Amino acid sequence: MKKNRIIITGGSGFIGINLALELLQNKNNIILNIDNLTYASNDDYMLRKYSNYSFIKENIIFKNKIANILKKFKPNIIFHLAAESHVDRSIFKSNNFISTNIIGTYSLAECFSKYISSTQKSNNNNNNNFKFIYVSTDEVYGDNFLKKKYRNFENDRLLPSSPYSSTKASSEMIINAWNRTFKLPAIICRPSNNYGPFQNKEKFIPLVISNFLQNTKIPVYGSGKQIRNWIFVKDTVKALIKVMNKSKIGKIYNVSSDFEIENLKLIKLIHDQLSKRGLVTNKNYKSFVNHVPDRLGHDFRYSIDNKKIKSDLKWNSKTTIADGIKETINWYLDK
Ligand SMILES: NC(=O)c1ccc[n+]([C@@H]2O[C@H](COP(=O)([O-])OP(=O)(O)OC[C@H]3O[C@@H](n4cnc5c(N)ncnc54)[C@H](O)[C@@H]3O)[C@@H](O)[C@H]2O)c1
Repeated sequence: MKKNRIIITGGSGFIGINLALELLQNKNNIILNIDNLTYASNDDYMLRKYSNYSFIKENIIFKNKIANILKKFKPNIIFHLAAESHVDRSIFKSNNFISTNIIGTYSLAECFSKYISSTQKSNNNNNNNFKFIYVSTDEVYGDNFLKKKYRNFENDRLLPSSPYSSTKASSEMIINAWNRTFKLPAIICRPSNNYGPFQNKEKFIPLVISNFLQNTKIPVYGSGKQIRNWIFVKDTVKALIKVMNKSKIGKIYNVSSDFEIENLKLIKLIHDQLSKRGLVTNKNYKSFVNHVPDRLGHDFRYSIDNKKIKSDLKWNSKTTIADGIKETINWYLDK
């Protein structure tokens, strides 16, 4: 069987490490992780024990470095996940978001297009075995608040609200242009809020779990009634692998579960699980909640329609919120 030579950018991040772990189970996948190890990265010790894994510490914005890496590694697939991904940080200081998310994506799109074109010329064929899979976000649609039952479809217009989501939408524009002009074999995935093992402790679910366990207050933006769709990271990983194996070039897919919930209700759900296991003794979850001023420009609701990926690729998110939260709590307890 032909081997896949796969680059994951941001393979030490939350979704990237879960994706790498799953891909490494198949010996036909040779994985190279390119990551410059920001504060959001994890130690990749779990990955290093696989002989089909290698790592290069590099910043994706450096085109010459990236071009050399492609020349040496000869990938046929790139999963592009490297990003500055924390919305609060993008409000506080946006320059790294512009540089990594926009310039970094441009650098990869440009280098991969050129690499493919020169490989095809030197092999004198047009083999179409190449894919550039970009992991965008449901946040590119902006606030889905007014139309209560409406879910965003892939061809809806993009109206990002935060510095973070504006850089993700910008990257999508670059990728579409490079697809049309330079035949970059791109596919775009837009996942909803992910949770699970290896997520950075600044993010909502890890923060809620750790504050309950440490018996400290949980800062909650505004009313806490904001609505998000939550997907377990291992379901997202399965979707990305389906995209690698089955998707046609040029497609865009929303990737979400069917589970939406208000932030405060999610806090209660996590509290219920911890209480049942005797990990919190205070029965009143509300006493942990500390309402703080709302985030600037905060979107009230994200909600995306996932019928397209379900029907095209026969993918479905399988993990219930109860099982996903249980596995996540166990992971943080082990850590
Ligand atoms: N986590 C979510 O809920 C979620 C939801 C939708 C979309 N996404 C998108 O999925 C992707 C992965 O998200 P995540 O939660 O794993 O992010 P993360 O912040 O946990 O990890 C990002 C990784 O990228 C690396 N990185 C950052 N800048 C880099 C640079 N200039 N060069 C090389 N590496 C760099 C970091 O070191 C880190 O390991 C991101 O593009 C994000 O926008 C995430």
